[in-house]
Amino acid sequence: MKIGILGAGQLGRMLALAGYPLGFEFAFLDPAAEACAAPLGGHLRADYLDQDALAKFCSGIDLATFEFENVPQQAAEFVAARVPLLPGPQALSAGQDRLGEKQLFVALGIPVPKFAAVSSRAELEAAAQHTGLPAVLKTRRMGYDGKGQSVLRSAADFDAAWAQLGAQPLILEAFVPFEREVSCLAVRGRDGAMRFYPLVQNVHRSGILRTARPRAGDPLQTLGEDYARRVLRQLDYVGVLAFEFFAIDGGLLANEIAPRVHNSGHWSIEGAECSQFENHLRAIAGLPLGSTALRGASAMVNFIGAAPPLQALAALDGVHAHLYGKLPKPQRKIGHATVTAESDALLEARLAALQPLLHQDDV
Ligand SMILES: Nc1ncnc2c1ncn2[C@@H]1O[C@H](COP(=O)(O)OP(=O)(O)O)[C@@H](O)[C@H]1O
Ligand SMILES: [Mg+2]
Repeated sequence: MKIGILGAGQLGRMLALAGYPLGFEFAFLDPAAEACAAPLGGHLRADYLDQDALAKFCSGIDLATFEFENVPQQAAEFVAARVPLLPGPQALSAGQDRLGEKQLFVALGIPVPKFAAVSSRAELEAAAQHTGLPAVLKTRRMGYDGKGQSVLRSAADFDAAWAQLGAQPLILEAFVPFEREVSCLAVRGRDGAMRFYPLVQNVHRSGILRTARPRAGDPLQTLGEDYARRVLRQLDYVGVLAFEFFAIDGGLLANEIAPRVHNSGHWSIEGAECSQFENHLRAIAGLPLGSTALRGASAMVNFIGAAPPLQALAALDGVHAHLYGKLPKPQRKIGHATVTAESDALLEARLAALQPLLHQDDV
């Protein structure tokens, strides 16, 4: 079976790495010259809206998926009219607009921080009355790794934030003084079967994920699964979906969903019985889903800006390096390590041994 992937970044690369043992083949479409999945399949370098390229992409594959949630809706519909595209265009669009996402959560009875749409400077004042301060002003579309966001602490911050972001449709959200950030990685098969990984505790800095650590028995596990299940069913979703939450006051507030495999699930390659990448492929190919159980203690550490020398990483027990083949650049995710151990204490010791090797951007 040949699977076409829209987007050829590190998520596409790791999907392909998980798929070859199952006998799958891959083709990628991505406008970028520097596409780190390209060595793992044919890379059609074309704009997502280039219909000739899309038609060529579809003619050589049995089914399609995406690893980038900002693939234009028209491209998704074009592909879905020719080969099964999973998750479908409806799921893709649900993850593209922060306002639409929040409205979906509200409709499904999932708690969210206070929010308001902002499309003019006057609306910003009114929105801030509703959310209170501090608040986070975000572009509705295209943001990632904290880009397109500005924290408003007082009315004195409004002008600068508006000058920076005001050209696009925006959303203002109350700033949540969360106790923890967690994500629920969920997978739903073509037959509607669902599985959930143990909740992952995530640490971000400057809007970028730094570490992700799954924990069995999180007191919020059942609640996270319940909220994820509502979204999966509503979107008739097939594949892996990541749901990011703020944990506060014994409950969860929904932040955002990503309709794809997710950085907070990378630990699952070594840390779970079946990785998020294999489970995504199993789901879209109509196979039974794999076990989401942990294989022991694990944690993921991102390499941002630069990666430690492989020589040094390879010398550490329990450290599994993943280097994406991307050029080093400030604030760019260029790799990660999953650290595994038989006990939490040993995991802590191994994480401490890795720490001095990290680029100062990562610390
Ligand atoms: N309303 C908020 N309250 C507190 N922190 C927030 C809020 N919104 C975003 N953040 C912080 O910024 C990070 C990135 O924001 P997010 O909305 O998830 O956008 P992105 O698409 O860049 O991941 C979050 O993981 C969180 O740490
Ligand atoms: Mg996020």
